[in-house]
Amino acid sequence: MIEKIQSYIEENKERFLEELKEILRIPSISADPAYKEDVQRTAEAVAGHLRKANMDVVEIHPTKGHPVVYGEKMVGADLPTVLVYGHYDVQPPDPLELWESGPFEPVVKKTDLHPQGAIFARGSCDDKGQVFMHIKAVEAMMAFDALPCNVKFMIEGEEEVGSDNLEIFCKENKDKLKCDVILVSDTSIIANDVPSITVGLRGLSYVEVEVTGPNKDLHSGVYGGAVANPVNILCNMIASLMDENNHITIPGFYDDVEVISDEERAAMNKAPFDLEAYKKDLDIADIRGEKGYTTLERTSIRPTLDVNGIWGGYIGEGAKTVLPAKAFAKISMRLVPHQDPHKITNLFAKHFKSIAPKSVRVEVRPHHGGEPVVTPTDTPEYQAAHEAMATAFGKEPIPQRSGGSIPIVALFEEVLGVKTVLMGFGLDSDAIHSPNEHYGLFNFYKGIETIPHYYFNYAKMKEK
Ligand code: BES
Ligand code: MN
Ligand code: MN
Repeated sequence: MIEKIQSYIEENKERFLEELKEILRIPSISADPAYKEDVQRTAEAVAGHLRKANMDVVEIHPTKGHPVVYGEKMVGADLPTVLVYGHYDVQPPDPLELWESGPFEPVVKKTDLHPQGAIFARGSCDDKGQVFMHIKAVEAMMAFDALPCNVKFMIEGEEEVGSDNLEIFCKENKDKLKCDVILVSDTSIIANDVPSITVGLRGLSYVEVEVTGPNKDLHSGVYGGAVANPVNILCNMIASLMDENNHITIPGFYDDVEVISDEERAAMNKAPFDLEAYKKDLDIADIRGEKGYTTLERTSIRPTLDVNGIWGGYIGEGAKTVLPAKAFAKISMRLVPHQDPHKITNLFAKHFKSIAPKSVRVEVRPHHGGEPVVTPTDTPEYQAAHEAMATAFGKEPIPQRSGGSIPIVALFEEVLGVKTVLMGFGLDSDAIHSPNEHYGLFNFYKGIETIPHYYFNYAKMKEK
């Protein structure tokens, strides 16, 4: 049966790509209210494909924000149930001028890492392309009435803005969402010839800070030198948040950080990593990070603090001499097991206010956050993914923790009591959240090929 399914996928490849392009053309930018209707239209398009895949139930659930698309195909009460989670919303595409083709005008182009071509568009990798693999894999299995597990889909439109309404949806629909495993493709593999499965995600604490000096913008000659400049002060304050070892200076910040044994660290660092290629890809002469840790560790098992945006004063054409009244920054802290996002946000706020000189006022506003996760590997749910990837890639996948965050995953465990398998197919270099985001055709098709193996492996492992 699996052979027939794989031939169906092979025969329908071109159509799958054309259908994905249609979805990529809709600008489902969840953060910007101006795109609300486009987000809705994307939900309808996703629902349309679930219907095409012969789901019994397809629903679009309105929320206070953007809708959740739900689909369901039950094939046997005694069979295990896989719940596929993903998101159809995307990040804003700015800066637009850096895109070589329109962010919502998908085109296929070859790149060094994708010699077979990659599809360029916002959301191609994160996460429309990866969600679409699941729908098409189920369509292929359903074409032969050969789905070996029950399947439920829950595809949301607010992942990129914190999944607040999905949390409510999960709490209100625990019965509907009953399942044995949550399967997610929204992460990366190490390389196209080095398959891996994500076994950890970092948590997140995100804050906005506002520094206020004088009650109005001032002439920087008349007042400069005598009155605190909020932009200068903000820069000093931010600079002081890390010491010469790139260690974060907020008191208590590291108190709960999980200590990883030397053996585990050694195992992690066996994963292939090419520092020269990494630097070349980013056009940087050197890397920089916390002393005592490798790049792989810095982006997985260690917490971070990064300014995501900073503004204040005059940023228009030419020069205007002004001592600005205010300065702002958005700051993210990536968290590792067992750091608590609320606790970290409070520690940050307390510390940031304490280091402000009397000449300014400081406000700290928390945004969304999320808990870190580590997923088990000694379960049939994980082993089914391991074997599916080994079959499809012809190589054993490596378990690896990722630096990104999917805050809803921790909530799945808390609210639904179900563990997640993070079987993603992107590459870290696919420019997600950046200009020229793309997704390799190899990765797209390899994903569609791997997913049916997952279902068959899992059903087999769960047989009495
Ligand atoms: N798919 C990403 C997370 C990701 C990317 C995990 C690559 C592993 C590897 C997800 O869409 C995302 O961008 N999450 C946000 C968090 C959210 C609260 C905005 C993130 O990590 O910044
Ligand atoms: Mn994503
Ligand atoms: Mn994202």
